[in-house]
Amino acid sequence: GRIAVFASGNGSNAENIIRYFREADRGAQVALVVTNKAEAGVISRAESLGVETCVLPADRLRDPDTILPLLEARGVDLIVLAGFLLMVPPFLIARYPGRIINIHPSLLPAYGGKGMYGRRVHEAVVEAGESRTGITVHFVSEKYDDGRIIAQIPVEISPSDSAADVESKIHRLEKAHFPRIIHETFYR
Ligand code: GRF
Repeated sequence: GRIAVFASGNGSNAENIIRYFREADRGAQVALVVTNKAEAGVISRAESLGVETCVLPADRLRDPDTILPLLEARGVDLIVLAGFLLMVPPFLIARYPGRIINIHPSLLPAYGGKGMYGRRVHEAVVEAGESRTGITVHFVSEKYDDGRIIAQIPVEISPSDSAADVESKIHRLEKAHFPRIIHETFYR
């Protein structure tokens, strides 16, 4: 398999996925990292691991004649969104049916939807006094955080946890589970 990771920010998940699929023969490799942000941390992470990166501003990402040849030339068969903050255009969903997934840092449908990303999710969870949160891996549909759920992993929140504490718990959970879920769902 050939995976394209789409990311807009720091890129810790992209890095974990690259490393996981290299560690052993897991039937797939990350062939490409696509970002819409020229200054995103994900770029240097991917480059230092020798993975090709491609910066495409939003308008070029929405252009079929740009993105489809790029993915097709590299034989991409799975698109993984990891902290990717743009909507996936309908033509891309149509071209990769059941082959575009996202990770969201809450137990969807709770704390999902437009504007719910990054630290904001964890702030909302802590403000609401939740005793648990978690991660959701799901198929991408034409609405934010809405497609069929593949896996959810919960984690306890202690009353003294700040949003930053919850965020680091979530990052640990993502690291431990996201690459494995990709592997088990698509390449086994
Ligand atoms: C992760 O928490 C992911 O679940 C969310 O955005 C964050 C991205 O972190 N959608 P990183 O860029 O992978 O470090």
